[in-house]
Amino acid sequence: MKSPVEDVDEILVSAARLTENVQRLARELEATYRIHKEIVVLVLLQGAKPFARDLLTALDDPRYIYTPLTVRSYFGGTESTGRIDIIGAEALTFSQRDVLIVDDIYDTGRTLDRVKAMVSLAGAASVKTCVLFEKDCRHEKTVTLDFVGMSIPDRFIVGYGLDFQERYRELPYVGVLKEIATT
Ligand code: IMP
Ligand code: MG
Repeated sequence: MKSPVEDVDEILVSAARLTENVQRLARELEATYRIHKEIVVLVLLQGAKPFARDLLTALDDPRYIYTPLTVRSYFGGTESTGRIDIIGAEALTFSQRDVLIVDDIYDTGRTLDRVKAMVSLAGAASVKTCVLFEKDCRHEKTVTLDFVGMSIPDRFIVGYGLDFQERYRELPYVGVLKEIATT
């Protein structure tokens, strides 16, 4: 494994472990969505992009429709400020459709809570959630997670789509950000 970059303290999840988790989640999704005609995979950008791409590759099934949605939650340093913008949802149709929301991480829960409410209100036939990481913290909003990759400690992580001020998304592993990088 390559050594961590300057601002990364330690590698928390290796690329191999990421792959294992994605494969397992794909098998769980297959079991759940056996009889569904079409599944709208609502991918929350930017963070969930690499995860969703690998998940859809593992599924290799044209019934899963990749549907990107840009969601911005605002951070002051490494803390969520609570403001969330959802961009371009008007162009999407959820009525009577089976929707799977895919996000990178369940942290405060505000993002998933907002997006799930929006999809339900739009009349979806079913709404399920899939996250790669569940942070071990007190979630402000409790959201039922249907598919979870792994639990992680309450630290600020980067890599595999997750950024710190738009950096480190391209790392092939997930690392813990050094405290000093945020000060
Ligand atoms: P929420 O606080 O559950 O709404 O999480 C919203 C978003 O915050 C996630 O989709 C991530 O993009 C971002 N986020 C939360 N924790 C981390 C982290 O440790 N590193 C990088 N981004 C994070
Ligand atoms: Mg994000």
